[in-house]
Amino acid sequence: MSIAQNTGTGAKLRCISCGATPDSAGQDFRCTPCGDLLEFFFPGWTSNQDSPAFDPAALKSLWLNRRTSRDALDQSGVWRFRELLPHIPEEHAITLREGNTPLYHLARCARATGVENLHAKHQGMNPTASFKDTGMTVAASSAHQQEFRWVACASTGNTSASMAAYAARGNMLSLVLIPDGKISWGKLSQSLDYGALTCQLRTDFDGCVRILNELVRQKPVYLLNSVNPYRIEGQKTAAIELMEQLAWEAPDHIIVPGGNLGNSSAIGKALLEMGELKLISRLPKLSIIQAHGANPFYRSVREFGGKRLEPMTADTLATAIRIGNPASWKKALRVLQATGGEVEEVSEVEIAAAKAEIGADGIGCEPASAVTLAGLKKLRRSGFIRSGEAVVLILTGHLLKDPDFTIKFHRGDLFVGTPDAAEVAQTKHLQRAPIVLDADLGAVIAALDAAERNS
Ligand code: F0G
Repeated sequence: MSIAQNTGTGAKLRCISCGATPDSAGQDFRCTPCGDLLEFFFPGWTSNQDSPAFDPAALKSLWLNRRTSRDALDQSGVWRFRELLPHIPEEHAITLREGNTPLYHLARCARATGVENLHAKHQGMNPTASFKDTGMTVAASSAHQQEFRWVACASTGNTSASMAAYAARGNMLSLVLIPDGKISWGKLSQSLDYGALTCQLRTDFDGCVRILNELVRQKPVYLLNSVNPYRIEGQKTAAIELMEQLAWEAPDHIIVPGGNLGNSSAIGKALLEMGELKLISRLPKLSIIQAHGANPFYRSVREFGGKRLEPMTADTLATAIRIGNPASWKKALRVLQATGGEVEEVSEVEIAAAKAEIGADGIGCEPASAVTLAGLKKLRRSGFIRSGEAVVLILTGHLLKDPDFTIKFHRGDLFVGTPDAAEVAQTKHLQRAPIVLDADLGAVIAALDAAERNS
């Protein structure tokens, strides 16, 4: 079975390595001649100064007007930008009104980093509480259009939660492969409630991906991991919406976490396309941050000049990005280089501290998202980001995705018995352990007074 491509907006598939342009993709979404990943491109956009594909001002005002519409697709923060997406007939579109996520100024983090113009685009404010929904609405709709009965993914938890929700909305069945024991309860509980067939495999994320790739060759299931180019197209809209929120004035830097590297590829692709379509007049630098224990892309760039990527056995408490063999590393490398961004790695303690600091700004996020602030601090120290520059962090998941991590951090239990136990002492000032008291007014007042003295 093959996946036909949509031609409504002129989107075509192309291999990122050999440039082949197949009419359709196999179920593994890889190029048949060379095995590399496929991407969408839009031949109708290629710069023709005499008759540009779009009038940028008209497009911006069309998108803005849709915000007042009662139409479900217009209300979606993804489909609102459908001119830049592969076409999917409206009757197949599955939407939970994803996107439309807030952009927050981070006042305390701004002071702590010395970057006054510091904002967070909170993709955790999506319907299933992670950025995955923006890509999933497009890819799940494409599965629906192809009349697939089953959709499937390997996941560290957020993709599976999102896929299960969109499959349920589209009356499709979903199969989730997740690493046993290494995903948060919040994410696991979502896929159960949304009705997925959830298999906890005794392996890591990379092992789940291997099994899934073999499965799609044997069974008619539609693959919803981010190798699916429809996912990337949907995730582009986070960057488009961000530019709209900034009145189309690009910031100097955008910082994203890097796991399987689909999200950085998508945001970078959107930036390059917006540049090409003259929707923005300059490109932000897109920087990608990994956890030290799951840093194959960081090592690829720093040690091998991006020429190759050595898979590793990944380990980090930021389980969302516990990935040792990222599928989209070549796409991510391309946008890193095209935008002049940087790649960084951060330690477990740096992640935990940054997460608490984002929380203290009244925002919060899951651990994987906090690598962005930890990375910003390192990029400030290295001089890559200067104090007067405008920086946007992409927060990928909601605080409530992984409450275990948060509670253990604040109780001081997170790093007990690990090599990080000594370093964590530096984060004591960020810990807010709950206080157990008798039901006694005097005890509560004493706690209040003590907190006031220490504030
Ligand atoms: N942040 C969160 C909260 C994630 O869930 C993920 C990936 C990432 C960052 C990294 O994004 O993979 O596009 O580089 N989670 C996937 C999943 C792998 O299965 O939920 P990426």
